[in-house]
Amino acid sequence: MMAPFGSGDPHTSSTRILRHPGATAGIPKEHRNDKGAGTTTERIGIIMNGVTGRMGRNQHLARSIAAIRHDGGLRADGLVIWPDPVLVGRDQERLRQLATEYGIERYSTDLEACLAEEQDAIYFDAQSTLRREQALASAIAAGKHVYCEKPIATTSAAALEIAGLAQKAGICNGAVEDKLFLPGLLKLHEVIKRGFLGRILSVRVEFGYWVFEDEVGASQRPSWNYRQEDGGGIVLDMFCHFRYLFDHLFGGVRSVACMATTHLPERVDEQGRRYKTTADDAAYALFELEGGAIAQVNASWVVRPYRDDLFVIQVDGTDGSATAGLQRCLVQAAVTTPRFVWNPDLPLQLDPRIGWTEVPDREPAVNAFRRQWELFLRHVVLGDPFPWDLADSARGVQLAELTLAAVAERRWVAIPETPV
Ligand SMILES: NC(=O)c1ccc[n+]([C@@H]2O[C@H](COP(=O)([O-])OP(=O)(O)OC[C@H]3O[C@@H](n4cnc5c(N)ncnc54)[C@H](O)[C@@H]3O)[C@@H](O)[C@H]2O)c1
Repeated sequence: MMAPFGSGDPHTSSTRILRHPGATAGIPKEHRNDKGAGTTTERIGIIMNGVTGRMGRNQHLARSIAAIRHDGGLRADGLVIWPDPVLVGRDQERLRQLATEYGIERYSTDLEACLAEEQDAIYFDAQSTLRREQALASAIAAGKHVYCEKPIATTSAAALEIAGLAQKAGICNGAVEDKLFLPGLLKLHEVIKRGFLGRILSVRVEFGYWVFEDEVGASQRPSWNYRQEDGGGIVLDMFCHFRYLFDHLFGGVRSVACMATTHLPERVDEQGRRYKTTADDAAYALFELEGGAIAQVNASWVVRPYRDDLFVIQVDGTDGSATAGLQRCLVQAAVTTPRFVWNPDLPLQLDPRIGWTEVPDREPAVNAFRRQWELFLRHVVLGDPFPWDLADSARGVQLAELTLAAVAERRWVAIPETPV
């Protein structure tokens, strides 16, 4: 059972955890809703590592944990779950600035000291990929519940080991599978579940955009993404996402064939220095899905998109088709399918975009990372199910690894069941 709200005495905390005087560990007065209403507040301490990075800061701190706090905590079954993070990283001054900006009380450069704190039940990791494996193992050994970015490791052996450690320790565990919680993909899931598409025949995914490589367009992604020795590469980065999408939308993936390459041999790093790229920046893959459907996936950081979104998935079935981006999903039924006739001598007679119907929003959109965070917090505090665990995430690392084997060996590779 977690320490009740307010029981963490600041004076008994390790001196290695610094406190920002302006912020509060408790729910600010204006957000408290327990005046006479009998609502119980459950404080939950979260060690947040890697929050100075792009994902840690934008998605996990700003749009998830700070946003939940801004809204007065997470209301769940008569409880208010109040996340109380300690921000962890290497640079004390940047952590102090983040703490000030987001009204967080605690920050530290000493992960070990944080893991030793009993008052913090969850360890979260959004560090660059190579550092995750070791950090998760330490957190599990310290008895923390763990939640983290993907990929959870760089090899499937390591990913399965981490997932096995978490299972053995009996802790709550999970990894980010954000695409499942995007409005467009949630609607696509609903369309598939309701059987609108009939038997699914094929899936086409286009993912990517131009990631600038020169001094003129500052790169939108960290340079380690383009160095294999630093955990980079589009296959390792993106195929984890494709795996959970295939598993959760279509019931699984049987085999893969792929060409992946490094189109651009040089890029410019954060310090403006040219460096040699060593990781794949584009992958062109074919998959055989469970049930026999064929999926084609293009993933590229070297493409100039002319499409509705940076990620687009189209699914064609016997009874209908669906196309989804991050926000929207459109469908076309078999009975409303226009009759195209191929005639290269005439301009197109029918607009292919006519005859598609938008799946409406049924609920207000919530940031996908926040949605999954809320489910994880409910899992830890209330014991709600959380199927997006480290074992599920290990399957993503497995797919990336086997895809790279398919690339190296220029052949189809089967995807076996994972042992955890
Ligand atoms: N879910 C998604 O859609 C998504 C998207 C992009 C990245 N990611 C994943 O998120 C993770 C972070 O990616 P990012 O783009 O934010 O990277 P980033 O480079 O912006 O951030 C990396 C973080 O790790 C920390 N770090 C790096 N080296 C360290 C070291 N030696 N010691 C201590 N800390 C160190 C940095 O200080 C920073 O806080 C990666 O694993 C990546 O695969 C997920």
